[in-house]
Amino acid sequence: MQYDLTKPNTGRTFDYWLGGSHNFEIDRQFADHIAQQWPFIRDQVLGERKRIQDFVQKFYDQGMRAIVDFGSGLPTCNNTHIAAHKIDPKIRVVYCDIDPITVAYGHEILEGQPNVLFLQGDASKPLAILDAPETRALLENNRLVGFNFLSLAHMLTDQQLGEAWRTLYDWAMPGSSMAVSVPAKEWETNPYMNRLVQSYRQVNLFSYYRSPAEFEKLYAPWKLTPEGILACNPSEIPDGDKTKTVRITYVMTLYKE
Ligand SMILES: C[S@@+](CC[C@H](N)C(=O)[O-])C[C@H]1O[C@@H](n2cnc3c(N)ncnc32)[C@H](O)[C@@H]1O
Repeated sequence: MQYDLTKPNTGRTFDYWLGGSHNFEIDRQFADHIAQQWPFIRDQVLGERKRIQDFVQKFYDQGMRAIVDFGSGLPTCNNTHIAAHKIDPKIRVVYCDIDPITVAYGHEILEGQPNVLFLQGDASKPLAILDAPETRALLENNRLVGFNFLSLAHMLTDQQLGEAWRTLYDWAMPGSSMAVSVPAKEWETNPYMNRLVQSYRQVNLFSYYRSPAEFEKLYAPWKLTPEGILACNPSEIPDGDKTKTVRITYVMTLYKE
């Protein structure tokens, strides 16, 4: 596949921050520009990948042998199938991303690997992914599934998010689970953090940020595990002459009874 190397790509930009080798000069320039404004970005994305390992282990411990990862980015740097196949190479993993370049590059990276596939699709319409013949064949119609919905919620409106999560709930068997991270409202309200949001807007990447009160009403009837909603990646950011601690992302595991 020919890549448009005049524009940065989100999946490859993430790969660069994660220390991967699947990125080009245009991605590295954009990633470095973002990192100048938000020096915590590498620690943040590395922490998020570490959490994928923990979520995958929890899915496995609770009997799930199939994972569907929405808005996955590139399948590199300890992404879901790598984490899953360390535990059990028979775990089936379906990746989905809306970006055709990420998906095409993902196909090259995954070529010949068993028990994993990558489909292009919109997480706001998840049935197209779940009911695709390739997914049905790989999952063998198993609906006891762990869903990853990580660093994606901010790319969907409330209506899209509420409908997507409800569709996943209705499709999944009881016992299924969903790992979710939601970027915090502070990205919108804090001027230091909002500079980064504006940089993304300049490359036409729009995003929506939420407080727990705003996203809690979107995930019913999924249930929250007793661990609750964890505020992760607190960072010390400049605030006048001092620094202050801000919340960056909320993380939680939901389940269907
Ligand atoms: C911030 S990255 C997160 C990657 C990965 N989930 C992680 O946590 O490292 C978001 C990814 O979601 C994809 N994306 C954005 N909107 C989407 C949508 N509506 N459906 C599916 N994927 C989407 C982007 O192309 C990008 O690869």
